[in-house]
Amino acid sequence: SYTGTYAQLSVAIENGVRMAIDQQGGKLGGREIEWFKVDDESEPSKGVENASKLVQRDKVDVLIGTVHSGVQMGIQKVARDTGVLSLIPNAGVLAATRSLCAPSVFRASYTNSQPTLALGKAMMDRGHKKAVWISWKYAAGDEALEGFKQSYTAAGGTIVKELGLPFPNVEFQALLTEIAALKPDAVACFFAGGGAAKFIKDYAAAGLKGKIPLYGSGFLTEGILDAAGPAAEGIITTMHYADSLDTPRNKQFRLEYAKAFRSQPDVYAVQGYDTGLLLVQGANAVKGDMTAKPALYKALEGAVIDSPRGKWTMSKFHNPVQDIYLRQVENKENKVIGVAAKALADSGAGCRMG
Ligand code: PHB
Repeated sequence: SYTGTYAQLSVAIENGVRMAIDQQGGKLGGREIEWFKVDDESEPSKGVENASKLVQRDKVDVLIGTVHSGVQMGIQKVARDTGVLSLIPNAGVLAATRSLCAPSVFRASYTNSQPTLALGKAMMDRGHKKAVWISWKYAAGDEALEGFKQSYTAAGGTIVKELGLPFPNVEFQALLTEIAALKPDAVACFFAGGGAAKFIKDYAAAGLKGKIPLYGSGFLTEGILDAAGPAAEGIITTMHYADSLDTPRNKQFRLEYAKAFRSQPDVYAVQGYDTGLLLVQGANAVKGDMTAKPALYKALEGAVIDSPRGKWTMSKFHNPVQDIYLRQVENKENKVIGVAAKALADSGAGCRMG
């Protein structure tokens, strides 16, 4: 998605993928790689169109993408129809590893409800018993709400209102006025990319910062901390990564990424990097012969990814089993303040590989 609100996320993902493969001398299983690159503009209709072109015309062995859940559904269709290997470096749409799962589709990121399944209890622990939910109305927002609703109500919280606006609309004013009138104990949300930066700034400008604490699925504060400025300080979120993770693996990754790309990595960079690591493990297992599908899939299913986020494994539904961190923005960094869930797996409900 190289155009629009998710453009910057896509650059970070691509950087991460390239970094992992560059660490293998730019080859996969000893073979040269040919790259094809297309832009889906976060426009759902481009999913099928782009993926078909890449598979039919360019004859690619692997599709890597994308960011937006709606576009991913189109790619998923092509992956299922053609059996081409499809690696998902971001989009969290549940169906990709639940009802529409496939032997050739693997996700290196998360499902949309995974981060928010760890959010509800963290908010209740802080005494926020009544919350308003706000997000874009499409799969990513709707499914993040699903996770939040489950975790928040199980912990005894009440969602007093669910607010939404169409993606990628950023006219938040009327909704912020409504939040001020509702006076909940806290607000929880899903926004990402350029829209997230604008939401955080508008929330503060509306006088809500410091009055009604703002929480979110961690994408809210990823890749946008410079753009959001002081309005983002103090925001607490849940996510499978945090900038400040104090491990040699994360520190080394952050140094190398900053050196190579002259910018700080974020969760998208990590997911891209892990997608690259996954592809490397698969390709090495078949010595670069990407037509050796059963052996390739077996290697991907058994992959243990030594990620900057911490080691993760692949669930039998092809989605990461991973820790979810509680983070708080401090000095333009997502600082870890706790572990909100250990080895969290998505249910994979309705997945039949076959
Ligand atoms: C999605 O559409 O699945 C999506 C997009 C951006 C994010 C997270 C999820 O940061």
